[in-house]
Amino acid sequence: MAKTLAPVKVDYPRIVTAPPGPKAKAIIAKDKEFSSPSYIKEYPLVIAGGKGAMVEDVDGNRYIDWMAGIAVNSTGYQHPVVTKAVVEAAQKYLHICGTDFYYQGFSDLCEALAKSAPGGGKWRTFLSNSGTEAIEGAVKLARHHTKRHALVSFHSSFHGRSYAGMSLSSSKVKYRKGFGPMLPEIYHLPFHNPYRNTLADCVAAANDLFATKLDPSEIAAVVMEPLQGEGGYVLPSKEFLEFWRKFCTDNGVLLVFDEVQSGAGRTGKMWACENYGVVPDVIVTAKGIGAGMPIGAIIAKESVMTWPRGSHGSTYGGNPVACAAALAAIGLIKTELAGNAVKMGERLLAGMKKLQAKHDCIGDVRGLGLFVGVELVSDRKTKEPAGQLMADLEQLAFTKGLLLLGCGKSTIRVAPPLVLTEHDVDKGLEIFDACLMELTA
Ligand SMILES: Cc1ncc(COP(=O)(O)O)c(C=O)c1O
Repeated sequence: MAKTLAPVKVDYPRIVTAPPGPKAKAIIAKDKEFSSPSYIKEYPLVIAGGKGAMVEDVDGNRYIDWMAGIAVNSTGYQHPVVTKAVVEAAQKYLHICGTDFYYQGFSDLCEALAKSAPGGGKWRTFLSNSGTEAIEGAVKLARHHTKRHALVSFHSSFHGRSYAGMSLSSSKVKYRKGFGPMLPEIYHLPFHNPYRNTLADCVAAANDLFATKLDPSEIAAVVMEPLQGEGGYVLPSKEFLEFWRKFCTDNGVLLVFDEVQSGAGRTGKMWACENYGVVPDVIVTAKGIGAGMPIGAIIAKESVMTWPRGSHGSTYGGNPVACAAALAAIGLIKTELAGNAVKMGERLLAGMKKLQAKHDCIGDVRGLGLFVGVELVSDRKTKEPAGQLMADLEQLAFTKGLLLLGCGKSTIRVAPPLVLTEHDVDKGLEIFDACLMELTA
């Protein structure tokens, strides 16, 4: 595939009307009147279009996008290869139900994802529409395959908004409040966050659970984000992942890695777990794998994907247009975007570390490729999270032309399109620095 990475030839970031401008205000007013009040809407950004990692709003303001629609627009906006694939598929067919019939794109994508799994051996793919739906399916698969019911997941995890996804999650109580009862038999354990706890604490909590409440022989799956996203862009130690790999192998439990946010080339490898050399039994993906089209997948070892014909399906999962986008995205990730994520990620991390040396409010900077967390604290010694500062930083950066998104208690997640350029890194760092100077003056 020909190289497609090229700087965007327009002037950005640029703010021509203080956002939200008049056109944005009109759309926001209508949205507020008619859309569900449950939506978050982080700041009053009304997007008209974009190119590469540049986003333009309806009033002509241009921003550097460091959040990619929550780590989704992996190939950036208007990527010609993805757009062409989507248009061609749409011209041929908008829908075929992959659960009931065959088509080329569906089989090609199942093959591409199955072959992308680490560790060798034969894997298979089930296609869904979203991350939470894929998690739901992975839980069903684990229970069906193991004939067990219990699930282990982790503090600060996020796995989606459906009942299995929500019940497995524990990043914020507002995602659960009022929706109980949750799915039963889900046990949450500490996730290793090298900035805030120790591996020994995490192992002790697990051993205590198994000694007092839950026999491992009843566990169907350990469901884990190998890198936590919504919970704070947390990178655990290799030993933590190895501990759970060994536990699962020793006890006939499936290790399910939720790579919805961390996967699809963002860390420089197709799957984040490849950076750790730890191979799960099941990988769940969505977001970046579809380059913006709604698609998710359960990728499982053939020995695990044993559910019989008709036991699981989806009307839209693996829609032909979404499959075309995903195949184009995978091609781009392999040929150039994963490599670019490493290069730009190093530049970004180095720049952020310099800002950490300058600003006491930056407690920790961590990352792999373009999965970067910048944790803000009110005091470096106590590590008290600076949640308000994070919220203020998001808002202020927006008014200066940089799109940020918080996560956890006080971490800015930098999860830009993988087409990010040096300009996008350097200009973004400049704005980030200027905002912190202003907010902490
Ligand atoms: C790790 C993880 N799993 C699952 C989900 C749910 O994905 P979706 O919003 O596509 O349902 C998300 C969404 O943010 C996620 O970050």
